[in-house]
Amino acid sequence: MMAVFQDWIAILLRWLHLMAGIAWVGTSFYFNWFDLSVRPPKGEVLKENIRGTLDEIHGGSFYYHEQYWPKTHPERLLVHAWPAKTTLITGALLLAGIYWYGARTYLIDPSVADIGPTAAIGISVASILACWFFYNELCFFVEDNRKVMAVMAVFVALAAYGYQHVFSGRAAYIHVGAMLGTCMGLNVWTSIVPHHIAMRKQLNAGEALDLRHGDQAKRRSQHNNYFTLPVTFAMISNHFALAYNHHRAWLILWLLMAGGVSIRHYLNVLYKEDRKERPLLVVVVAAFGGAVGLSFVRPAPPPVVGPVDTATAMAIVQKRCVPCHSQKPTHPTFVAPPGGFMLDTPEQVMAKAEKVVQRTNVSRDMPLGNATAMTDEERAQLKVWIEGQGK
Ligand code: HEC
Repeated sequence: MMAVFQDWIAILLRWLHLMAGIAWVGTSFYFNWFDLSVRPPKGEVLKENIRGTLDEIHGGSFYYHEQYWPKTHPERLLVHAWPAKTTLITGALLLAGIYWYGARTYLIDPSVADIGPTAAIGISVASILACWFFYNELCFFVEDNRKVMAVMAVFVALAAYGYQHVFSGRAAYIHVGAMLGTCMGLNVWTSIVPHHIAMRKQLNAGEALDLRHGDQAKRRSQHNNYFTLPVTFAMISNHFALAYNHHRAWLILWLLMAGGVSIRHYLNVLYKEDRKERPLLVVVVAAFGGAVGLSFVRPAPPPVVGPVDTATAMAIVQKRCVPCHSQKPTHPTFVAPPGGFMLDTPEQVMAKAEKVVQRTNVSRDMPLGNATAMTDEERAQLKVWIEGQGK
């Protein structure tokens, strides 16, 4: 009963996170595109202090926009802060509910680092906050956005490397995403929104706009624009065990993120200058190609001496899989076998032989979070036994 409610909370929270995230990313992408696409007005304009105008067609209508700095507060001024705030809050709740509450199952992999839940959760919280403090200070000390992004690229590589050596593969990827996602959310919350409020106060007081507020808000908004694709990749990465369980998972992640940033930059140059910066596409192909190529490079499995008999294979399955994949699981997280998938008998193992080999030896995401501490030798033995069965 409780487990069912817990599952529902996780399902609805994920959905809410996605809803808010789509709304946020949608408006953020739209306004960044808009900002880069407006052109100085050629003809008459409606307002004063116009930076640019833009005509669009979408969904059966034509639209005309002017980007301007007002002298008085408009009567109806729409704001866009809640999607970002909701995404950040629901993201934090998901991280807490899945990776902190379920630390032993999802956060810790004893074969990576044998740490307790308290230490693991401490590292999780401290590292995410540290990233925000680092990035936020960096923005104050370094004026040039390109330098900020270059430093963050190095920071992300180091963080991904570090996470890979303390957390499970899946948790490591999510944490790189959570780290950057937190920077994005706090950019909105602590910088962009306060700058907007400051400008609205000036308008309400009848003062001239201090455009430095606008510049600062825009700067953080542009950073967010470049963080978006890397973060969204990390957020869906729990489906990609092939990547996150690789022995160079951090580098695969970094290459994919670099590819994402390059796509973003290619499009931004195109919007702003009507120019196709083709070398960036070469970078995208090289980054993605590098990630795919790297995934084929794997350390050789430990050699298995002699044929493996059924008793040995089933002893491994009993110890490493059956705590979850059983009619009556003994693992505290599961009341029923996950996905109804049971491995109590040799027949059950052989019925799903291909999947079992795939998930223990290729993507290596079973046992889940390596909760039962399966060794490389046992993985190899199980594979040898399964492959021997068909003969
Ligand atoms: C800590 C619990 C846990 C342990 C231990 C565990 N699994 Fe899983 N397993 C899961 C969960 C949860 C799922 C469903 C989610 C998924 O597919 O990733 C799953 C799904 C699977 C699937 C996919 C089933 C399907 O029908 O698609 C296979 C195959 C699998 N596990 C194999 C294994 C093998 C082999 C072992 C032992 C070497 C093992 N698992 C150990 C939790 C566990």
